[in-house]
Amino acid sequence: MSEEALENLLHEDRTFPPDPDFAAAANLSASAYEAATEDRLDFWDQQAQRLSWDQTWNQTLDWSAAPFAKWFVGGKLNASVNCLDRHVSAGYGDQTALIFEAESGDSRHISYRELLEDVCRAANALEALGIEAGDRVAIYMPMIPEAVVAMLACARIGAPHSVVFAGFSAEALRSRIDDAAAKLVITADGQFRRGGAMPLKPAVDEAVSQAESVENVLVVRRTGSEVEWSERDVWWHDVVASASPEHTPEAFDAEHPLFILYTSGTTGKPKGILHTTGGYLTQAAFTHWAVFDLKPESDVYWCTADIGWVTGHSYIVYGPLANRATQVIYEGTPDSPHRGRFWEIVERHQVSILYTAPTAIRTFMKWGDEHPKAFNLSTLRLLGSVGEPINPEAWMWYRSIIGNDLCPIVDTWWQTETGAIMISPLPGVTEAKPGSAMRPIPGISAEVVDDDGNAVEPGGGGYLVLDQPWPSMLRGIWGDDERFVDTYWSRFPGRYFAGDGAKLDKDGAIWLLGRVDDVMNVSGHRISTTEVESALVSHHKVAEAAVVGATDDTTGQGIVSFVILRGSSAEDDGLVDELRAHVATEIGPIAKPRQILVVAELPKTRSGKIMRRLLRDVAENRSLGDVTTLADPTVMNLIADGLAQGASD
Ligand code: PRX
Repeated sequence: MSEEALENLLHEDRTFPPDPDFAAAANLSASAYEAATEDRLDFWDQQAQRLSWDQTWNQTLDWSAAPFAKWFVGGKLNASVNCLDRHVSAGYGDQTALIFEAESGDSRHISYRELLEDVCRAANALEALGIEAGDRVAIYMPMIPEAVVAMLACARIGAPHSVVFAGFSAEALRSRIDDAAAKLVITADGQFRRGGAMPLKPAVDEAVSQAESVENVLVVRRTGSEVEWSERDVWWHDVVASASPEHTPEAFDAEHPLFILYTSGTTGKPKGILHTTGGYLTQAAFTHWAVFDLKPESDVYWCTADIGWVTGHSYIVYGPLANRATQVIYEGTPDSPHRGRFWEIVERHQVSILYTAPTAIRTFMKWGDEHPKAFNLSTLRLLGSVGEPINPEAWMWYRSIIGNDLCPIVDTWWQTETGAIMISPLPGVTEAKPGSAMRPIPGISAEVVDDDGNAVEPGGGGYLVLDQPWPSMLRGIWGDDERFVDTYWSRFPGRYFAGDGAKLDKDGAIWLLGRVDDVMNVSGHRISTTEVESALVSHHKVAEAAVVGATDDTTGQGIVSFVILRGSSAEDDGLVDELRAHVATEIGPIAKPRQILVVAELPKTRSGKIMRRLLRDVAENRSLGDVTTLADPTVMNLIADGLAQGASD
């Protein structure tokens, strides 16, 4: 974040106390903070009791092998039973679980009973395909109900799922399938996007052709387009539809792996973040109930994330379904067939709780107030934000234009690694400030520390650390314990280093300032600079590449790349497009650089390390910082001149 932006934040002094009517009916009261402070483990013990356990635990937390945690030791449960069976048994089988809004505009209600039956059919089909507890299943699917069914069917039989965002390339999918040695891939023939059918299966075919672990590919027919077919392929409608709608679930250990979800780190290789069952589900359910104030009888909840990200895991699948929410899931994009699509969905399905990302909010602001104003949004009663820092201007717009100045906003800070919300205002309890995630929720402990690990005074800035274990914490990086310890636990021994900069204001509220490592946040998606650099240098014309995230008004950060071409390659008209397309093939369209600049040299220290800080200065049109440590201080002038030249072309 630039100095100027930081300065602006420090001058932000608007506060919004909870509305008394909202507070009177809120799920949680201030006493939760006191109870959790008094006895943190007892507090989580209480929260775990919102789940159904087949066997209760005999120890809340085993931290003896820190940083490898065990929560609810000895307990047994089934995540899918907690999300489905228990609601049906309690008489809520007819309640709508999912309101599926297709890209075409058709919509369909799926009750808890129907969802349970579908999950049982899918669980039976997976077992018939030879999937057993512990086997990994990759899921590469559009936002359709079958994606939720696939995840819960895996959970039901204890097969950890690894959902890969369907916007990732065949290569990105292949490396994730390989790393987890997935035995099955569940996908669809294609997906609907902006009125057209886009293929998905060809990427799976390409990925699987080199993945030895995969025995079958289970394919949902969504678009009806022609697909290539091989012996290992199986149609979902052949094996799932005909399977029995009954399935006897097994209870799994609280620490049984529930899923792996890959996320970018500071190296080129994505990390498989591992989550287990009991602690994860406890915190996902508790936070969804407390932070969104969910009332299962009356609310219609909508989280606009994709199931390919952790937000989709915790706040579409596990949290809301464990809490018996009625929720919208939407297949398409916000601007198709028109820019009011989201607001039309809110009106049509009477959405009362909306959870979305700052990048979307800023895009809506840019599109103009007339789009939301054309629809009746009066059913909304709470708004949430996640994925990146929300700037005060976007926060105020969200509150006034979408929330009609009535809805509390919860700015929720968390990560793939934390599994569930960690820092957020509690609606009806805590006041909110535009741009601040405020305080750790009850049961969570966080600090802002300086370089030496000392807690900063109010008004100070530094790094965000979590100084106590929490139930939904990652249990490790799949297959790489050492990387887990190095990445998160060695910078400040004994404490979890989140990789985010933060500031503590005079009232003790936390303001997140973005990543402090080589991870970019583009439209709320985490992408590492090294990942994009290695994609670029894998192109035959590129000798060297350096990538930085530059501040972007809409996407938070934009990817700016500097490349040095190989001797024999000349810069021609099509080069930039060719390189952008290459990155899309290697990683996915979300990682396409916003700008690619061909340069003769890169700024390096005498030891050969690229000084990204200087490149960021250039990319953000700032005057250059200290260049004295450069091996060749004239390099930056060359780059800046080249840029000025490019801008005037
Ligand atoms: O930098 C923080 C930012 O997103 C990162 C986590 O990304 P990911 O694992 O993809 O999970 C995103 C959804 C939980 C964090 O390290 N981030 C997330 N939420 C916020 C945020 N930054 C500021 N404010 C937030 N509310």
